[in-house]
Amino acid sequence: MAKKALLLGATGLIGSHLLGYLLDSEMYDSVAVVGRRSTGVKHPKLVEHICDFASIAQHPELFVCDDFYNCMGTTIKKAGSQEAFKEVDHNIPLAAAKLALAGGAKSAWVVSSIGADPKSSIFYLKTKGEVEKAFVDAGFDRVMLFRPAGLLGKRNEMRMGETLGIGFMKIISPLLIGGLKKNRPIEAKHVAYVMAHQPVNHVKGSRVFESHEIEQIYGSMMSGCRYME
Ligand SMILES: NC(=O)c1ccc[n+]([C@@H]2O[C@H](COP(=O)([O-])OP(=O)(O)OC[C@H]3O[C@@H](n4cnc5c(N)ncnc54)[C@H](OP(=O)(O)O)[C@@H]3O)[C@@H](O)[C@H]2O)c1
Repeated sequence: MAKKALLLGATGLIGSHLLGYLLDSEMYDSVAVVGRRSTGVKHPKLVEHICDFASIAQHPELFVCDDFYNCMGTTIKKAGSQEAFKEVDHNIPLAAAKLALAGGAKSAWVVSSIGADPKSSIFYLKTKGEVEKAFVDAGFDRVMLFRPAGLLGKRNEMRMGETLGIGFMKIISPLLIGGLKKNRPIEAKHVAYVMAHQPVNHVKGSRVFESHEIEQIYGSMMSGCRYME
């Protein structure tokens, strides 16, 4: 039975790749995106809603779906404050997810971050950990949590600090072995590919995909082998 997917963050680095994969997927006969601006994508399966996220509670019909995907996010610097960052990375996705659940959604795919931990003393990682926990507790049948390290890929905007940090990690990437492997930067499109293609029907409750696992699954998929748990 073909299903309906709903995607938040479709104009972002991971989200734009994911949108393409979801539109190509035979699993979905409809892919809805909700965002503050258009993706510019034209596709017969795509339904776009441009909205003000402050008033989504008045438009529950926009969030009716089977599968909910969240790639929304910002940085504390870009948002301007910790509070504004939390609104984008935590409050809005959760409000949208609750509307999706009320509309019948059973599964959620959430982009989180390496190091996400509700007990972290680092605000960004603490917020990501809190988002993960809130999604797990929300009531979906299954929740897939993706924890990428620094994202590689072409952005339309310049993020100097992030680019330098990820560039440095890329250079030292071959030295990151054993327990350090998960810190290797990862292509955003690999994260999106695994989100769209990894079979998850057997997942009951939640499952965390660490960055190095995402890369491993992607590599297996590209070489035609099935990833083994
Ligand atoms: N960057 C990294 O290296 C890294 C590493 C690990 C995890 N992550 C996490 O991965 C996720 C995806 O990252 P990404 O780099 O793909 O994201 P991105 O390119 O920054 O895109 C973020 C998405 O969120 C939307 N968004 C941001 N602020 C918004 C607001 N105030 N209202 C409505 N929509 C808003 C953006 O819409 P617009 O296009 O309209 O701005 C865009 O669709 C994020 O949660 C991020 O924290 C990132």
